[in-house]
Amino acid sequence: MKSHTQSLLAESLNALKQQGVVPADFEARIQVDRTKDKSHGDFATNLAMMLTKAARKNPREIAQMIIDNLPTSSHVEKVEIAGPGFINFFIDDNALANQLMDALNSDHLGVALPQSQTVVVDYSSPNLAKEMHVGHLRSTIIGDAVTRSLEFLGHKVIRQNHVGDWGTQFGMLLAYMEELRAAQGDQAQMELSDLENFYRAAKVRFDESEDFANRARKLVVSLQSGDAYCNKLWREFNDISLSHCHEIYERLGVSLTRNDVRGESAYNADLEQVVADLDKQGLLAESNGAKVVFQEEFKNKEGEPLPVIIQKADGGYLYATSDMAAMRYRSDVLKADRALYFVDLRQALHFQQVFKLAKTANFVREEMSFEHMGFGTMNGADGRPFKTRSGGVVKLIDLLKEADTRALELVRSKNPDMDEAELIEIARVVGIASVKYADLSKNRTSDYIFSFEQMLSFEGNTAPYLLYAYTRVAGIFKRAQDVDLSDATIVLEHEKEKELGTKLAQFGEVMNRVVSKGQPHALCAYLFELAGAFSSFYEACPVLAADTAAQKKSRLLQAKLTAKTLKQGLNLLGLETLERM
Ligand code: ARG
Repeated sequence: MKSHTQSLLAESLNALKQQGVVPADFEARIQVDRTKDKSHGDFATNLAMMLTKAARKNPREIAQMIIDNLPTSSHVEKVEIAGPGFINFFIDDNALANQLMDALNSDHLGVALPQSQTVVVDYSSPNLAKEMHVGHLRSTIIGDAVTRSLEFLGHKVIRQNHVGDWGTQFGMLLAYMEELRAAQGDQAQMELSDLENFYRAAKVRFDESEDFANRARKLVVSLQSGDAYCNKLWREFNDISLSHCHEIYERLGVSLTRNDVRGESAYNADLEQVVADLDKQGLLAESNGAKVVFQEEFKNKEGEPLPVIIQKADGGYLYATSDMAAMRYRSDVLKADRALYFVDLRQALHFQQVFKLAKTANFVREEMSFEHMGFGTMNGADGRPFKTRSGGVVKLIDLLKEADTRALELVRSKNPDMDEAELIEIARVVGIASVKYADLSKNRTSDYIFSFEQMLSFEGNTAPYLLYAYTRVAGIFKRAQDVDLSDATIVLEHEKEKELGTKLAQFGEVMNRVVSKGQPHALCAYLFELAGAFSSFYEACPVLAADTAAQKKSRLLQAKLTAKTLKQGLNLLGLETLERM
């Protein structure tokens, strides 16, 4: 409750800064104290006195302005000015307790559902020519957590896996596949099980043989002009490549299916129209034979324009061209209210440019919002982009296998007597959860250092800590099976009960932030704090050994809601929970 009061005051102070009552750069430490005498309410602050100088107002006057700008809170019964300018808060514990009871009886933890929107989420979106690597991990798991959260809040989500399945590199791959087929027959299929190798070998052939390179170029042209043989080959190639991706999704527990795939090639037929429409509106210019669009606001540091390239001199289309077509599809056919793009921050300029251009060219509905949810780079221990010891790209599958092995060691060391099958199952959950949580708990836009030691630690804001905290809370019920809770109700008396209750009541607010800003780390931080609030509560407030039966039941209900909230929160992040570990 204390921190709740503090955050109400912080919001009021911000409002006063925006109104110019308090200088914007004024730094106030907001102090809130518990009152000694309950006739003065539950909490008091001297904030008004701190502001008198900066606001040039007398304390009672500024105190009233603070009160007028407080956000409404169902937990605050009354706010009063006392003495020279203290502000006293009277907390309504019953309102809070009622809210918690509602949350317990609701299948949405009592979260008020916002108006439902249709939201396109563009995530994962690997390039099929190569094997998925760690760079795509962030998009896949952050996008998935936000997708689950949107659905939880009642939005209609359309997943779009905008895979890179088109472009000149496919000529090279097709030429190589053709060559292998001629030499090995059906055996050639096997070579595709390691796409990275396949790609490298194709590139070697391309560089060493002029014949091969010519063949590759011809295949691109045939492919693009719809030649049946080339298309069959290309389809097979993509099919195998996609099945590798889906193996990974399954292992990660990510909810993407084949139906969600709509890659660059899906827009081939629309590209000519994109160019024609931009041309009709007089937006196209020519630069070295290519068709480009210059936009006023996009210049480099030297002030030189940064155009969007729409069509190359040889007639080929580009990444931006298919994105223009995709935006149109998302607006007109999918009729989305929002489209969220979970893509590396290094593509920020690309998205700013195409988003702007699509609006200028009226390709999309004015009211639809396009949001690049960019993310930073995942680095190795040396702070540099993640590489294998030999300097190669780390494959996602190898990373997940290592997480699994390390988690097994960890779980075995904690449970030397557990049988092997259970150990393996627990390790699978802990391993994947650790990799995902380490990523999700970081601010999306920061780079971060990938560390198995850190992510598999039982201390700090980690998956093992939270999964374990959940098993502990859930475990309390195993020891309270005989307690009948049907007539029980929550009564908040002890300070720690109130603090836990306040935390529990914030779940809805946090979920709204996750979906509006695309920030799953807010949910991670919340769950970590919730687990902490529960620990403090459990230390201070005996549950099974409570003084009265009513108190015991009330505390059990709070434990029950904590378990429910932890489980729901972890599931929304895409983590499975365990009953024991
Ligand atoms: N395939 C691209 C890459 O790996 C990401 C595509 C993101 N989505 C989009 N609509 N551009 O860089």
